[in-house]
Amino acid sequence: MIGVSNFQIPHLQRLLDETGVTPAVNQIELHPYFQQRSLRAFHAQHGIVTESWSPIGQGKALLRDERILRIAQKHRKTTAQIVLRWHFDNGLIAIPKSVHAERIRENFNVFDFQLDAEDSALLNGLDNPQGRLGPDPETADF
Ligand SMILES: NC(=O)c1ccc[n+]([C@@H]2O[C@H](COP(=O)([O-])OP(=O)(O)OC[C@H]3O[C@@H](n4cnc5c(N)ncnc54)[C@H](OP(=O)(O)O)[C@@H]3O)[C@@H](O)[C@H]2O)c1
Repeated sequence: MIGVSNFQIPHLQRLLDETGVTPAVNQIELHPYFQQRSLRAFHAQHGIVTESWSPIGQGKALLRDERILRIAQKHRKTTAQIVLRWHFDNGLIAIPKSVHAERIRENFNVFDFQLDAEDSALLNGLDNPQGRLGPDPETADF
């Protein structure tokens, strides 16, 4: 069993065609500002689990977004918790990074509330083709 990272659809297709091996998981940049819908659809079609890297947008603008802040206030949660719940609700694996014990605890504590349809619609609507924070796998020198 293998896992891959930063594979785009052509990379996955080539792997499938040339080896017959379907990876168990593909770890890709994914957060509400960059939702990777076509890649996720390809994953779903082939039974590949999607793992989100930079799931809370590297702790930057995403966590200060006024629209997410309003959802957070409604549920008495933090914006990080709202975003992590969104990943969970969408069947995505999200492993946020923090060096602070309190934040690590906070990031786990997302199972005592639910996003409603309005929250989900708002979060789904934040997708932006220009929303990538990290390197583009097509051009990055890994
Ligand atoms: N495969 C790849 O190419 C690739 C690329 C990038 C990242 N990754 C992996 O993805 C994982 C996470 O990605 P990432 O570190 O880029 O971004 P991230 O998890 O979205 O964000 C991490 C940042 O958010 C802050 N943070 C964490 N929890 C917070 C909270 N509750 N409230 C406010 N700020 C919070 C952290 O600061 P503090 O630490 O100071 O709390 C850190 O600066 C890592 O394990 C990394 O290895 C993989």
